[in-house]
Amino acid sequence: MRIDILTLFPEIALAPLRESIIKRAQKAGIVDIHAHDLRSWALDKHRKTDDYLCGGGQGMLLKPEPVFAAVEDLRKERTKVILTTPQGLPFKQKHAQKLSSYGHLIFICGHYEGVDHRIVDHLVDEEISIGDYVLTNGALAAAVVCDAVIRLLPGALGDDRSPAEESFSNPDLLEPPAYTKPIDFMGLKVPEILLSGNHAAIERWKQKQALERTRRNRPDLIDPSGEGA
Ligand code: ADE
Repeated sequence: MRIDILTLFPEIALAPLRESIIKRAQKAGIVDIHAHDLRSWALDKHRKTDDYLCGGGQGMLLKPEPVFAAVEDLRKERTKVILTTPQGLPFKQKHAQKLSSYGHLIFICGHYEGVDHRIVDHLVDEEISIGDYVLTNGALAAAVVCDAVIRLLPGALGDDRSPAEESFSNPDLLEPPAYTKPIDFMGLKVPEILLSGNHAAIERWKQKQALERTRRNRPDLIDPSGEGA
């Protein structure tokens, strides 16, 4: 997969992707990531990429010309163009799975108060929000989406790990609590059932714990209507 990130702050997008599993995936040739400074496509000598809102309003918007020019230069045949914005569709694991099937993703990272809406209407395939809060910059959101997508690419997690069993993959339950050694940490003990060797009983315990944790932290996953049973 190739990923191009269009932003005024390439370092914000790239830094989180330079460590650990994503670093390895790049080295292994599983993904090829490029972050570009949108100013390179600015037309005027001051490399201006933002301007005031037509009709009034606070702040500045990303101008259309550099963004259209950049996407035109980078786009291939089967490219998905994504805008990171708090106005987008909530990003979910299923969404990450879908995106992982593309050969090429272009991220447009909003900044200032957002982007000129002609970018949304005529350039962007999907608007994605990573949560109901406002970041200073869409580049951070792009890095989050990239991380979630890249780890799903074949070989990214190594041969012995599969993302298929995780929370949010299937079914929609959070993961149960997990423990490692020591068995007794300052009097805080690992639940005995996990040391019993009874795999069926352990599996039942995990299911119950996952359900309880989901009810406590994410009741919306069990009852999306929010009306209760
Ligand atoms: N840009 C600013 N806030 C954002 C968010 N929550 N999701 C995606 N892009 C953003």
